[in-house]
Amino acid sequence: MLPEFFEFYNSTRVVYGSGIASDFKAELDFLGIGKYFIVSDRIISDLGLTKKVVDGLTSAGIEVTGEFLDVPQDSEVNTVNACADQAKTSGAEGLVAIGGGSVIDTAKAANILISEGGDLVEDYSGAHTLTRPLKPLVVIPTTAGTGSEVTQVAVVYDKDNKVKMPFTDKFLLPSLAVLDPEMTLSLPPKLTASTAMDALTHAVEAYVDLQWSPFSDTFAIGTVELIFKNIVQATKNGEDLEARGSLLIASNMAGIAFSHSMVGCVHGMAHAVGGIFRVPHGVANAILLPYGMEYNFEEVKDKLAKLAPIMGEEVSGLSADDAARKAIEAVRKLNGTLNEMGALPLRLREVGVSEDGLPEIAEATVMDGTSFYNPREVVAEEILAHLKNAY
Ligand SMILES: [Fe+2]
Repeated sequence: MLPEFFEFYNSTRVVYGSGIASDFKAELDFLGIGKYFIVSDRIISDLGLTKKVVDGLTSAGIEVTGEFLDVPQDSEVNTVNACADQAKTSGAEGLVAIGGGSVIDTAKAANILISEGGDLVEDYSGAHTLTRPLKPLVVIPTTAGTGSEVTQVAVVYDKDNKVKMPFTDKFLLPSLAVLDPEMTLSLPPKLTASTAMDALTHAVEAYVDLQWSPFSDTFAIGTVELIFKNIVQATKNGEDLEARGSLLIASNMAGIAFSHSMVGCVHGMAHAVGGIFRVPHGVANAILLPYGMEYNFEEVKDKLAKLAPIMGEEVSGLSADDAARKAIEAVRKLNGTLNEMGALPLRLREVGVSEDGLPEIAEATVMDGTSFYNPREVVAEEILAHLKNAY
C-alpha cells in the first residue's frame, strides 16, 4: 500500500571522499561567494581538524573571515546569538560548519539570524517560519550520527525553559555536505557507538513512522544495513576508513530518511531525557530504541519483520510476530556487544536519570513534536511503563 501523499525534497549537494575536507574548492565554485566564516568547537579545533579545512580554503583563494569555536555539547540560544554576531561583523558571505550535531545546528540557527536578523526564539522557533533562502552553509560532519548536514531541522537548547527547541524549514538545508571519513578518525569509541546508534534510531523511526514514503524507506533500509555491518568494527578499530566512511554515509542517508518521515517516540523520550537529565542524545536513543520498538510493536510488526534480516537475523519460516521480535532482539544484541566493549551503557539508571523523574520524562515525551508522527498514539502512562523497563 502506498501513502496517500508524500513529498521528497533535498537540495543539499553531497560529496564523499577521503581527504576532501581540505580540498573541495571545485564544490564551492557553484555557490558563487568567496568569504566564509568557520563555526566549530574547541575539541575539533584542538584536534587540528578546523585548521585542516581552513588551510585548504585559504590555499584555494577563499577568504576565511573568522572563526567561532565556542559551541558547547548542546547548541544553545546564547551561543547561537554570539556566533551570529561575530559572523555578521566579520563580513562573511557564507558559513562553514565543522563538527557534530551541536556545531551544525548552531551554524544553521546562526545563519537564520545572519541572513534575516530578528530574535531566534520569538521569530523563528517552530516550523516553516522562513520565506527565502539563507546564506550558503557548508557542513563538514566530524561525527557520524545526526545527519544534520542533510536535514531541514536544527535543535537548540533553551536553558531557561529546559527544553530543546526544534526549528524546521526547507531553507535550513545546507548548500553542501562534505563527507570525509578522515574527519571522523579521532572520534573515541564511545562517541562512535552512540552517534551511530542515533543514526540507526533515525532510520528505524523514519521507517515505521506515519509519514513514511517509499523514498524514505529506501534510505532507511540502506542505513540499517550499513550500520549493522560497520558499527562494531568502527568502534573497535577507529582507524578503519572503510567502516568510518560507511557510518558517515549511513548517518547522511538516515538524515535524508528522517528529514522526510520524521522520528517518533524513541526520540520523544530521548529529547525529554536529554532536556531534563542532560543525557547525550545518542546514548539516550541507544538505550531507548528497543523499548520504543516494543511500544510500537502491534502497529508496525510487519515493517519490523522486514528489518530483521537486514539486521542480520535469520527469519525464514518465522511468523511476522516472531520475525519482528528478532529485529528488537538484534538491536538488543548490538547494544550488548557495544556495552561489552565499554562503549555504551544499557540502562537509564547508569546515565544519571533518577527513578522519580520518569513520570516527568513520560509527560514530556507526549508533548514532544515527534508524537505526531509516531505510529501509535503516545500515551504518558504507557510510555512510563516502557521507561521503567529501560530504567
Ligand atoms: Fe537523533
